[in-house]
Amino acid sequence: MGTVLVTGGAGFIGSTVVERALERGMTVRVIDSFRSDVHPESELPDDGGRQAAEAAGDARVEVIRGDIRDLETVRDALQGVDVVCHQAGKVGLGVDFSDAPDYVSSNDYGTAVLLRAMGDEGVKRLVYASSMVVYGEGRYRDAAGHDVRPAPRRVDDLESGRFEPIDPATGLPLEPALIAEDSALDPRNVYATSKLAMEYLAASWARSTGGSAVGLRYHNVYGPGMPQNTPYAGVASLFRSALERGEAPRVFEDGGQRRDFVHVRDVAAANLAAIEWTEDAPAGRTRVFNVGSGVVHTIGDMAEALSRAFGGPAPIVTGEYRLGDVRHITASSARIRDELGWQAEVDFEAGMREFASAPLRAAAGTAGATAAGIR
Ligand SMILES: NC(=O)c1ccc[n+]([C@@H]2O[C@H](COP(=O)([O-])OP(=O)(O)OC[C@H]3O[C@@H](n4cnc5c(N)ncnc54)[C@H](O)[C@@H]3O)[C@@H](O)[C@H]2O)c1
Repeated sequence: MGTVLVTGGAGFIGSTVVERALERGMTVRVIDSFRSDVHPESELPDDGGRQAAEAAGDARVEVIRGDIRDLETVRDALQGVDVVCHQAGKVGLGVDFSDAPDYVSSNDYGTAVLLRAMGDEGVKRLVYASSMVVYGEGRYRDAAGHDVRPAPRRVDDLESGRFEPIDPATGLPLEPALIAEDSALDPRNVYATSKLAMEYLAASWARSTGGSAVGLRYHNVYGPGMPQNTPYAGVASLFRSALERGEAPRVFEDGGQRRDFVHVRDVAAANLAAIEWTEDAPAGRTRVFNVGSGVVHTIGDMAEALSRAFGGPAPIVTGEYRLGDVRHITASSARIRDELGWQAEVDFEAGMREFASAPLRAAAGTAGATAAGIR
């Protein structure tokens, strides 16, 4: 299957993609800046430049400590590469709007430089990490089964514990449904906007260079190596970190928020399926796919499963809320199953049991998290 350059290959998902690509017999190169707010000092390779990948734990991986925003570094990293699997970026909901320049620079400018370098070096195959956040609030139907865009959530409703999105026409709660790739896009924060811009950049690149690009809209990814408690961490990791401190997971709203929790090994397998697809894709072809387990759980369910598996205190449902959070967002992963032959294999309960005792990535930089339900 050739040589793959994994950007962000030292991160949570990227490092799992590296393992999977090696299993499939690919030659792997990693470019990662080892962001100081993501990686603790102890994880850093000795210095910049190329070296055998102790960080990746396998001498078959070449790791370049470098920033994808640096054109010369990326061009150099692309030598001999057949396909790029782009996982580098700044994740999470962030702290506040002051994060905006970093999101746009890391996710959009970084992608633009990477794509420019791929054009320069004639690398024509791209798989990249997008996110379910591009959809904003999930998909809803009214009582008659028609799709309805919910009204924005109102402080009054949330204060009174009315968390379900409301039909603006009738004032009645709407029924959540699975979201498909052709649903309306509605990024609601800077991170989401930066992920959607990546999709448009990749499509522009494919059109103008004849490359092929696959965007994978990951849903809530969890599993070993997930970063610990930071403002950018996913909700599963925040609950797990609380349990480790001997505290009960604190569940926002009424715990009924629906999500699709997908295991990191399944996400890595989806990346490999997408890499394979680009081998025979017609010039200029782009495609996006949801990557979810296909099984709906609530955040309350997840907290309970994790507490049980950990043997810790039962979760506390707090009724707290964040106005910017979406209520429900769950995927239809039918397209990726039909077109790439991928489907999630890790069962939720088994995955949570493993996650309850799996190593997390040590915290770096900032601490003091709030419960971010999406990434
Ligand atoms: N974790 C999730 O639930 C989730 C969900 C949806 C989408 N995603 C996307 O998946 C991708 C990987 O996320 P993750 O959870 O593994 O995050 P992560 O923070 O663990 O990994 C990202 C890696 O990218 C590196 N990086 C960041 N900026 C870089 C730059 N400019 N140059 C080189 N390296 C850089 C970081 O050092 C880090 O190792 C991201 O693009 C993210 O937006 C993640």
